[in-house]
Amino acid sequence: MNEQYAIDIITRNAEETEAAGRRLGEIIRDTGARPFIALYGDLGAGKTVFVRGLAAILSPGSRVKSPTYTLVNEYRRGPVPLFHFDLYRIAEEDELDGFGFEDYVAGGICAAEWSERLGDSLPPDAVEVRIEKLEGDERRIAVRGIGEEKEA
Ligand SMILES: Nc1ncnc2c1ncn2[C@@H]1O[C@H](COP(=O)(O)OP(=O)(O)OP(=O)(O)O)[C@@H](O)[C@H]1O
Ligand SMILES: [Mg+2]
Repeated sequence: MNEQYAIDIITRNAEETEAAGRRLGEIIRDTGARPFIALYGDLGAGKTVFVRGLAAILSPGSRVKSPTYTLVNEYRRGPVPLFHFDLYRIAEEDELDGFGFEDYVAGGICAAEWSERLGDSLPPDAVEVRIEKLEGDERRIAVRGIGEEKEA
């Protein structure tokens, strides 16, 4: 477990979830890491909202829209590109090869909604973001680095 990414918070509205995304963005910016961010959570949990916060730090000024129909959106206003995936419509891992998934992983910071669709293609050093719907507008957000912490 890589503790440098650990965030545990309950948010009460979309603004607070976006702020949590900014917090992770700051950790990534300050460490210079290029992690694969795997987002998990039901429809409407707030995954896209969270990525909006990430992008505010990693690609300032970019307007984040859900890549539901395009599969991936690219945000290039920061030093490292941010690739935002929505894998909801991926039925089989084979489909990932078709659009060069590995090239995106190697080429920048990735944030992927519906990462459960990745199966064995989930990068081993991913950062997991789990968003759980609670009562009303409340969400529980847990962020964990699942890879080993790298020696400085
Ligand atoms: N605490 C909260 N955090 C995030 N979003 C919230 C919160 N409370 C209410 N919302 C609302 O929930 C919705 C979250 O939408 P969002 O598109 O981010 O979900 P998603 O997880 O990306 O869903 P999908 O799987 O369909 O892509 C927004 O309409 C947002 O305003
Ligand atoms: Mg979404």
